[in-house]
Amino acid sequence: MNYSRRKFISFLGKASLGAAIVPPFLFSCGNISKPIDIESLSNERLNHLKNLVLEGLSASNQDDLLLVNGLDYHTIIKWGDEISELDTFGFNNDFTCFIPLDKSNPKDGLLWVNHEYVNPLYVSDFNYRDYENPDEHRTIEQVDKEMYNVGGSIVRIKEENGKWKVVKNDPHNRRITAKTKIQLNWNSPIKGKSEAIGTLANCSGGITPWNTFLTCEENYDGFYGETVYDDNNNASRIPSRYSGWENFYDYPPEHYGWVVEVNPKDGTAQKHIALGRFAHECCTLYQLEDKRIVAYTGDDSNNEHLYKFISSQPDSLKEGILYVADTVNGKWLALDWEKQPTLKTKFKDQTEVLIRAREAAKLLGATELNRPEDIEIDPITGHIFVSLTNNKSKGDVHGSILKIEETNGDFDALTFKSSTYLAGGEANGFSCPDNLAFDLAGNLWFTSDMSGNAMNKANKPYISFKNNSLFVIPRYGKDAGKVIRIASAPKDAELTGPWFSPDGKTLFLSVQHPGEQTKNINNPTSTWPFDGDNIPKPAVVAITGDLIEKMNKLNQIVS
Ligand code: FEO
Ligand code: CA
Ligand code: CA
Ligand code: CA
Repeated sequence: MNYSRRKFISFLGKASLGAAIVPPFLFSCGNISKPIDIESLSNERLNHLKNLVLEGLSASNQDDLLLVNGLDYHTIIKWGDEISELDTFGFNNDFTCFIPLDKSNPKDGLLWVNHEYVNPLYVSDFNYRDYENPDEHRTIEQVDKEMYNVGGSIVRIKEENGKWKVVKNDPHNRRITAKTKIQLNWNSPIKGKSEAIGTLANCSGGITPWNTFLTCEENYDGFYGETVYDDNNNASRIPSRYSGWENFYDYPPEHYGWVVEVNPKDGTAQKHIALGRFAHECCTLYQLEDKRIVAYTGDDSNNEHLYKFISSQPDSLKEGILYVADTVNGKWLALDWEKQPTLKTKFKDQTEVLIRAREAAKLLGATELNRPEDIEIDPITGHIFVSLTNNKSKGDVHGSILKIEETNGDFDALTFKSSTYLAGGEANGFSCPDNLAFDLAGNLWFTSDMSGNAMNKANKPYISFKNNSLFVIPRYGKDAGKVIRIASAPKDAELTGPWFSPDGKTLFLSVQHPGEQTKNINNPTSTWPFDGDNIPKPAVVAITGDLIEKMNKLNQIVS
């Protein structure tokens, strides 16, 4: 019986077969040279893909990074490792992104890693549980250590004999921290400044067509608090949800909650005000034929929104309009002070609309979503996939993956269709989807983020899923469309930042917050990565093996 070509791709949506939509830079794998053309495949090759069988892992609560047969991992770098004479690798690594130094050599390049937040128990030797009023017992030295351990790292890495290693003391190696001076890319100052001190809450991110990194400031209100407004539009400041840094440094909350671009070559950075201020999870770019940029970015908070920026100038993340999604009516609504009279009733200018983007979005009638996390563009169909991780306030405990289809496939369209691609829950074997990544062959990989205080608890809805995991949804073959568990995280950890190397043979992955639920440092809930120090350490690993190569076979055929 002939295998239906159309069936191959039907699980992710109707594709215009053979028409690749996404340009090379958008692949997390970096630089694929040719589009995937299913129609050109021989029956023999189709049969290879059809017959590929994946045996997934069962759920596990073991304190280890477990992988399916056919895959192995090695640790590239972990918290505290020296990257240069001056700097060490930060805490709680999240987003990763690899850019080769020279496109002809996919095994030598710069790895960017986000450091989202710290656990003071490990980083600053401060145990909140020891005090009734912990803030009264904090010192500036502790806060300084914490500030150093967030932000991001640039490290040169090379693969030799199958193992990725850090090139220690390479001139590119550097840290961006909560103390680094960063330009605000805007025409008017914000809170009287055109420069912010530091970046923090760096969750996920993205890559630009001009090969720079994007790092997104997510739960920024956890560091210096937030400015809130009452019904009469009067401002007041609320304290940080954790950390209490504002007791030591008086930096305005308005300097955080942005998409930050970092130049890999020299570490210079800028915050892109035009993309709005909220809990940015990620920023996924598409470049139109005329070189204008479309940027998708979600606000990972209960009942917040999905945004898209469309630039009016080539290669710009400044000139253009920010839109917010009305998913009920399939419309992108312009957050444009000049053209929206409703916005003029509350905000004094466009800068204020961007700083208070959440409020502006609600005024326009944007749809409240269930915590939009990572966003990826399907390389074959051009559909946009958005993880909606959960929304306990609305009874959605397992989350789902949303699919957006822009009208006529135009990324700058102002209308779209949306639907649920896949719902979390027992039936589909996963809960709380977070980071997404397509591989070279268009298989969809994703991680889960069940919160540490709910995982493996008998009275919580997550008990059957055990530890957070990495999954793949194969695009082809017998298992097409099924959710298969590929890796299981150490205790209390979350797997984050999946990113494929340019040749598709390595999956870079962060292991974030192992041992997060530890109460006493002498009795940690995890000791991964088992380096002899008897405490858990966040680390970035390289996953390699036969299985990744088999799953990427499609690319090798057409290249
Ligand atoms: Fe930092 Fe939305 O995960
Ligand atoms: Ca995340
Ligand atoms: Ca991603
Ligand atoms: Ca998350």
